[in-house]
Amino acid sequence: MKISPYIESLIEKAGKLNKTIVLPEGEDERVLQAAHEAAERKIARLIILGNPEEIKTYFDKQGWGLDGIELLDPAKSPKLGDYARLLFELRKEKGMTEEEAAKTVLIPNYFGTLMIKAGDADGMVSGANHSTADTVRPALQIIKSAHKDRGVSALFIMVAQNGKTYYLSDCAININPTAKELADIALSSAESVIQFGGAPEIAMLSYSTYGSGKGEGADKVREATALAKEALKAPEYAAMNIKLDGELQADAALDAVVARKKASGSDVAGHANVLIFPNIEAGNIGYKLLQRLGGAEMYGPLLQGLNAPINDLSRGCFAEDIVGVIAITVLQTQK
Ligand SMILES: CC(C)(COP(=O)(O)OP(=O)(O)OC[C@H]1O[C@@H](n2cnc3c(N)ncnc32)[C@H](O)[C@@H]1OP(=O)(O)O)[C@@H](O)C(=O)NCCC(=O)NCCS
Repeated sequence: MKISPYIESLIEKAGKLNKTIVLPEGEDERVLQAAHEAAERKIARLIILGNPEEIKTYFDKQGWGLDGIELLDPAKSPKLGDYARLLFELRKEKGMTEEEAAKTVLIPNYFGTLMIKAGDADGMVSGANHSTADTVRPALQIIKSAHKDRGVSALFIMVAQNGKTYYLSDCAININPTAKELADIALSSAESVIQFGGAPEIAMLSYSTYGSGKGEGADKVREATALAKEALKAPEYAAMNIKLDGELQADAALDAVVARKKASGSDVAGHANVLIFPNIEAGNIGYKLLQRLGGAEMYGPLLQGLNAPINDLSRGCFAEDIVGVIAITVLQTQK
């Protein structure tokens, strides 16, 4: 299995944390290959949901042991009743009945998410066979935002062809964030980058730099920048050395020569490593262009701002991508 040097560096850190990650898609060969690799490298203990006999037969055929891996059929779990009750308690105010809870708990993404809620696992990686919405919805409903007045957003880690690491958000969850939501996305991204061992220098991206362009979009990003700068004055951020500036065009954010012309005096322009997009259209199109035309390695969407880490995979992912996301999920368990 070919693992990139960036992911290797995360694997080394993840291995020390001794966490348990649930993989709800035991029917998928890529998930089984990734679980084997992750267990061999002791990145985490793994719980695979699915048919234990079939999974065991697959492992036997490959000549692999099951050290560090637990196989679990949700329907036969002794905790099924407990999880159904937990789900009912959490969702009854939203109209869920006991019968619905008993059915819903059997959906592997719900079962895995409830394992985390009950403290039986530390994180979950899913989405090799499910849409983003199907993976993310149980997390939003059950695990919920870590901050009372802040939503969950998504981050991509990008390793550019020049070897530098960048962080992009929100390219996957919030469709048209308000200025406040955009400021929150920037704060959550800063916290994620610190979890991954980076030093956040955040550019609030727009088609305008310091008022060079007119329009609602630029106004929103300018307002979001002011809100985020204000929030960063809070004592909890004092020791984190988070730099943030906006509104900046992408060239001013990334290119030192352009930065000197368009945003001289900025402590971020020219060397930003965190790119906050004004909406999902810019973010989603932007990350795919970087990946397809720019040859960048892209990891995500990683959910940030949840009470416990749950991450989505692309349905076109490779087993090595899943190994990478398992390592990232372990690192996100750090408070
Ligand atoms: C993430 C997403 C799936 C949630 O949509 P949904 O399931 O229709 O969600 P709802 O609006 O019904 O909300 C479901 C729950 O999640 C919560 N929620 C929704 N978005 C949230 C957010 N950003 N942060 C925190 N909670 C959120 C809601 O408050 C609700 O909680 P409740 O049921 O306890 O009240 C939706 O925002 C979406 O489709 N985003 C775009 C995804 C996409 O297409 N990405 C591109 C490909 S990667």
